[in-house]
Amino acid sequence: MRIGLFDSGIGGLNVLKEFIKKYPNNEYIYYGDTKNVPYGDKDKDELLKLSTNIIRFFERKHVSLIIIACGTVSSNCYLELQKLTKIKIIDIITPTINYLKKSNFNKVLLLGTKRTVESHIFKNNINNIVEVKTPEFVLMIENNSIDSKVIENYLVNYRDYDAIVLGCTHYPLLTSEIKKYVSSNTLLIDMGYVLVNNLDITNNSNYKLELYFSKLNDEIENNIKKIIKSDYVIYNVNDL
Ligand code: DGL
Repeated sequence: MRIGLFDSGIGGLNVLKEFIKKYPNNEYIYYGDTKNVPYGDKDKDELLKLSTNIIRFFERKHVSLIIIACGTVSSNCYLELQKLTKIKIIDIITPTINYLKKSNFNKVLLLGTKRTVESHIFKNNINNIVEVKTPEFVLMIENNSIDSKVIENYLVNYRDYDAIVLGCTHYPLLTSEIKKYVSSNTLLIDMGYVLVNNLDITNNSNYKLELYFSKLNDEIENNIKKIIKSDYVIYNVNDL
């Protein structure tokens, strides 16, 4: 099966990694819009325009499934994107919401981008969730400039929460930092992990991974290497 996944940058690679782990025998095409990262503070029209281009890209690549490996696009544009194409599209947030509905956590914190939090997709579905915007996180991750103090400041009031939803696909890359500031009993919820483990797809092609980025440089390539350990071919979409 040929699967397309996309995000604003390297965050969706965390989702891709979970796919490769569970379904190693598939063809994957990943699109990271590094030229336009971050998506988290862009308005809906802009997000729709950028993600429509990516959907068209996947149509040209003849994928049979598209994964929106981005919380911001999932929370703001999922319905519109589904109407845009005949290809089946799955968003990253719905499986986590379903998981939370079935769980009985007392206190749950959502960390997300500005636009994800402002969509209130979590609050509208889950009663006991506190939504917090963490606008600095994505660029700290993309630029390898993690500032522990910034992370700690966001977590001071939530140290004893039962669960924290990493509501942006970049955030699993902050797991060890976040763990420093919360109780060892706090569960960190990785939306990519939840999605992949609630999905049943075929796993019967030869493994292949093509990565497409709208901007590439050494730093981005090094970040990719740290996340994806299997073989891949990488392209700059502007060179196609
Ligand atoms: N990783 C994305 C998300 O899940 C995009 C974050 C951003 O570019 O601001 O929301």
